[in-house]
Amino acid sequence: MRANLKGTFISFEGIDGAGKSTHIEGLAKAFSGKGYKVTLTREPGGTSLSEKLRTLILNDAMDALTESLLVFAARRDHVERVIRPALARGEVVLCDRFTDATFAYQGAGRGFDLQTLSTLEVWVQSQAEQGLQSDLLQPDLTYWFDLAPALAAERLAGARVPDKFESQPVAFFEAVRTGYAARAVADAKRFARIEANQSKEAVFADVIALAKVRGYL
Ligand code: TYD
Repeated sequence: MRANLKGTFISFEGIDGAGKSTHIEGLAKAFSGKGYKVTLTREPGGTSLSEKLRTLILNDAMDALTESLLVFAARRDHVERVIRPALARGEVVLCDRFTDATFAYQGAGRGFDLQTLSTLEVWVQSQAEQGLQSDLLQPDLTYWFDLAPALAAERLAGARVPDKFESQPVAFFEAVRTGYAARAVADAKRFARIEANQSKEAVFADVIALAKVRGYL
């Protein structure tokens, strides 16, 4: 239930190297240009506490349960302090990654139990202490920038010092991609797959067109 949250919540997903970042900024400008107030944020991160957790998650070795708990702890703080308040004010929230990334990276990538992730998802994205499926906060729209892992690896090569995830082999990203595909099938109305194997201009044109078709821009 989103009765008290008037705003629009849009998330952006894809394997590392799929090239989503510039398009998020472009879309933010497009919304601002139309007079919308935009909150641009990211996960893990988006609050002072969650950014500290991000540094740990992206750099320290840990087992998949620890990683999942930290990702969801960061998300809880972010949802409560930033995302829900911005949606309540009627803003457009553009979030670079959200829970689909946990299902893709920790679930499909690292092989962590999907049922446990679903339980954590309900706890963290609901307001009731016990977590109620009925008030589960989800994005209204999720852009999935889809690119073959071998191409993404080429784009990433030499771009910067890779973090813990970026330095994973192509096989890991094949699994992550499968995880995104499964989430897209399970929630086809929310997901929009963007073909990322095109020029930047063509990808951005698709991003804008999609926002218009869905009636958000
Ligand atoms: P990313 O969003 O690609 O940011 P940057 O462009 O600065 O590298 O990096 C975040 C990384 O965190 C990415 O490799 C995916 C990973 N991640 C998870 O493993 N689980 C999650 O739930 C989230 C949100 C991100």
